[in-house]
Amino acid sequence: MDCEKDTILITGGTGFIGSHVCYFFLKKGFNVVSLDSLVNSSKKVNKNIDNLLLSEGYEATGNLKFVKGDIRNKDLLRCVFNDQLKKNKPISSVIHLAGLKSVKQSKLNALDYWSNNVCGSINIFNVMKEFKCNSIVFSSSATIYGISENPLIKENEEFKPQNPYGKTKATIEKILEDIFEESYKSMRISNLRYFNPIGAHPSGMIGESPNTTPENLFPYILQVACGRQKELNIYGNNWPTHDGTGVRDYIHIMDLAESHYLALIHLINNKPQILNLNIGTGIGTSVKELVNIFESVNKCNIPFVYKDRRDGDVSICVADNSYSKKVLGWIPRRNIQDMCKDGWKWMSKFPNGF
Ligand code: NAD
Ligand code: UFG
Repeated sequence: MDCEKDTILITGGTGFIGSHVCYFFLKKGFNVVSLDSLVNSSKKVNKNIDNLLLSEGYEATGNLKFVKGDIRNKDLLRCVFNDQLKKNKPISSVIHLAGLKSVKQSKLNALDYWSNNVCGSINIFNVMKEFKCNSIVFSSSATIYGISENPLIKENEEFKPQNPYGKTKATIEKILEDIFEESYKSMRISNLRYFNPIGAHPSGMIGESPNTTPENLFPYILQVACGRQKELNIYGNNWPTHDGTGVRDYIHIMDLAESHYLALIHLINNKPQILNLNIGTGIGTSVKELVNIFESVNKCNIPFVYKDRRDGDVSICVADNSYSKKVLGWIPRRNIQDMCKDGWKWMSKFPNGF
């Protein structure tokens, strides 16, 4: 099916992942409505997305409409859908990324996480139903798997989330399962279970720009590299891994962005279904290895100290991505060196973020 000029709603569209996903869909010719409360991002990213597309020869300016708003505001969501209907450009699909993502904060403010992530998602699903919008790609997380015995995690692994954040993601997936049944299996739903997205668009024009000090490893390394933080804390050197530090499946943000496009096209072109997909490379990298590679690729020094293990962490979390590759024909192309190089390019250009 030719989807060019379809209008999609991207919630969380100014965030780290959202900005790269917006860029990807605009480049593919979609009209994009990006909705974000800006609780963890800046709307300045929209200008950079436009400039980036123009620099690549795409006439996308005008195809990106930004709405500042909260997904917990159902009336606002209705207005967004209605406005598009009036313009004869109805929202045909939703890429739902808006959410709070700090594991630590989710333990300190559990109710905020349930309210924001789960109540906000229920609003989206309700308004989609009102407007007969049946396709959704949801940003789920590998964190729903929790502690696994398997070196490579498959999609049929039992959910064992270890913190409120992970529980909200697992719950939203369960709600989507029920909605699928309620719709007599007429909806098109894809849960993308991201592993650890890092890096930036290779131009360095867009990248991760959180409003507070990052808690994730890679954006923290970037801040150490540019001098905004003194040193990196490595949480644990006694994990049961080859060098004692935690192992994760880091995936380049551009490969991750592409998976949203491929998932939506797959949903549109196939029978209604609910599709759960691991979005990772299948390759594990330890914290220490990531630091070493970052230093060698970018010719810099990342001072670090070992600290106690972080509460709620697991030792290893790596995807079995064979199902995603098979179903979507998706191939993560960029390696860990590319992730380090592109992330640093972004940080060198915008050391203080947007
Ligand atoms: P991010 O914080 O950069 O982006 C999330 C965006 O959602 C932000 O721009 C924020 O302002 C917005 N937002 C939050 N609550 C909102 C609300 N109630 N209404 C409207 N906008 C709201 O984070 P990200 O890394 O881009 O993550 C995007 C999604 O992917 C999140 O749902 C996150 O849980 C999920 N995810 C991220 C990772 C990761 O490692 N980055 C891994 C797995 C899943
Ligand atoms: N780590 C450090 N120092 C830091 C930050 C992290 O040593 O300052 C270590 C952690 O202990 C872990 C590894 O780096 O071993 C990765 O930690 P991240 O915080 O970057 O990522 P997580 O794997 O803990 O979680 C991330 C996202 C979740 C998502 C999950 C999916 O934060 O939202 O990946 O796998 F669900």
